[in-house]
Amino acid sequence: MSRTVYVNGEYLPEEDAKVSVFDRGFLFADGVYEVTSVLGGKLLDFAGHAKRLERSLSELDMVAPVDMDALLDIHRELVRLNDLDEGMIYLQITRGADRDRDFVFPDPEKVPATIVLFTQAKALADSPAAKTGIKVIGIEDLRWGRRDIKTVQLLYPSMGKMMAKAAGVDDAWLIEDGHVTEGTSNNAYIVKGARIITRHLGNEILHGITRAAVLRFAREAQMQVEERAFSIEEAKAADEAFITSASTFVMPVVEIDGVALGDGAPGPVATQLREIYLDESRKSAV
Ligand code: PDD
Repeated sequence: MSRTVYVNGEYLPEEDAKVSVFDRGFLFADGVYEVTSVLGGKLLDFAGHAKRLERSLSELDMVAPVDMDALLDIHRELVRLNDLDEGMIYLQITRGADRDRDFVFPDPEKVPATIVLFTQAKALADSPAAKTGIKVIGIEDLRWGRRDIKTVQLLYPSMGKMMAKAAGVDDAWLIEDGHVTEGTSNNAYIVKGARIITRHLGNEILHGITRAAVLRFAREAQMQVEERAFSIEEAKAADEAFITSASTFVMPVVEIDGVALGDGAPGPVATQLREIYLDESRKSAV
């Protein structure tokens, strides 16, 4: 059965869901996105994703084509139409399709934004990778300087995943000026003694919605959190490590550049935080 996709105000079978070849998302990667997870047919942290989306749009002088209440309705309607129990909703907004290819932004009064949403069914909570943990390599961070804006320029992260695959591992951590920024599509953490260490917020990383929730839960559980830069060497000497994102929640990392962390199995802090995150997020899902 084909999925129902939302495109510019219409719910359409995926075969009929189309955007213009002049769309600036296609020509210039001139667009932003969000990925919101769904558990038990409900949205996790929708308010956080909506807030970050508004910020991404405003940083790029883009106008939201719908308000955030309408956006919640569209998310819910897609869950219903596609009978989605567990997985993600992908949302993309671009600066629309101008009449020609032009580097200059079109007038938003004349060229409306393009908005597309679709569902992706996937088992997220009961992930086999969460039981074994994942392996990562460090690679140079060659992305642009505004990683705090969630744009669709994902070629380098995609190349990073391919480098990881070629090295026989699951993902890559990006390194800039000797310090880990984040994973290709997730935030990165190490644990040393009783401390959880993760890169501080800034333009260098995406301000993860899962990151914000997990750090809040960690502090509430009296865990010590340090938001600061760390090197890949420090990471390799850590007791444990993990990543967070809307699609992986809290995912243990058990090996960095071929060096096993601790006993090479998911660590207790990552395991506990995954449980807390799942429990709390289910409770507040909408
Ligand atoms: N990626 N950092 C980067 C570079 C990301 O692409 C993501 C999310 C995160 C985690 O953010 P959040 O916790 O809000 O999902 C951090 C999404 C899941 C993706 O591109 O599919």
